Amino acid sequence: MAGLGRGAGGLGRCSHAVVRAPPESLSRQALRRKAKASEVVDFARAEREFQLYVAVLKSKLGLQVLELPADESLPDCVFVEDVAVVCEETALLTRPGAPSRRKEVEAMKRALESLSLNIVEMTDEQATLDGGDVLFTGREFFVGLSNRTNRRGAEILADTFKDYAVSTVPVSDSLHLKSFCSMAGPNLIAIGSSEAAQKALKTMQQMSDHRYDKLTVPDDEAANCIYLNIPGKGHILLHRTPEEYPESAKVFEKLKDHMLIPIANTELGKVDGALTCCSVLINKTSQL
Ligand code: GLY
Repeated sequence: MAGLGRGAGGLGRCSHAVVRAPPESLSRQALRRKAKASEVVDFARAEREFQLYVAVLKSKLGLQVLELPADESLPDCVFVEDVAVVCEETALLTRPGAPSRRKEVEAMKRALESLSLNIVEMTDEQATLDGGDVLFTGREFFVGLSNRTNRRGAEILADTFKDYAVSTVPVSDSLHLKSFCSMAGPNLIAIGSSEAAQKALKTMQQMSDHRYDKLTVPDDEAANCIYLNIPGKGHILLHRTPEEYPESAKVFEKLKDHMLIPIANTELGKVDGALTCCSVLINKTSQL
């Protein structure tokens, strides 16, 4: 699965975001790994944290935010990242690995159509792909092969974004590839310290022609952060709060070129949601 590749200069550029409010059904019915089965979601707090997340994107960073309504029949619908992968002006609507999540794609399709993106739909019934398994570095894609994402899903992603190389990475101990990593800057991979995270990073380094810098944080969950590069504001990093992950926050605080924005995600984290899960970020360069 090779492609031409490009520089990472555009990584983090963003004009629009699509988000979806959490439904109350999330508390009891959202999917979660067995290890988290006993954690009780405080839904009011989940809503407050989500509203703060949206306010940061909209009011603090000035993005145009499309806010989709919650759907009680879709307990995981707040995790919009899993249903669409957007790169430049092309959007791949995924076929989520969990059958209970497949209908989430419908509202996302309408939202992305309203932004006049080129839309590709994953219709192959052999394919599964969750956006949480897709790490775009600005130069290439890494796709986690997990319980949610299979090789056919990765092949369709490679066919959709032909300008970029696509490599696959086995993911076994976590929900998604981005459960323990993300981009923290144009050439900077944030990575957790667990054995599984470090092994996945090594695989990515072996697959790539490019040498990335790494930012290792003690907590895998904290390695999922959101890097943005907004004209007039510069490098921005949304990361988990010192109250949640004090040791990891200390690592982020050493980044001197970034505007750091701590965001709490205590409640959605109980159902395996991370910061990137709650938005689809889009850079619209053509006129709407
Ligand atoms: N609760 C997020 C997911 O399992 O898809």
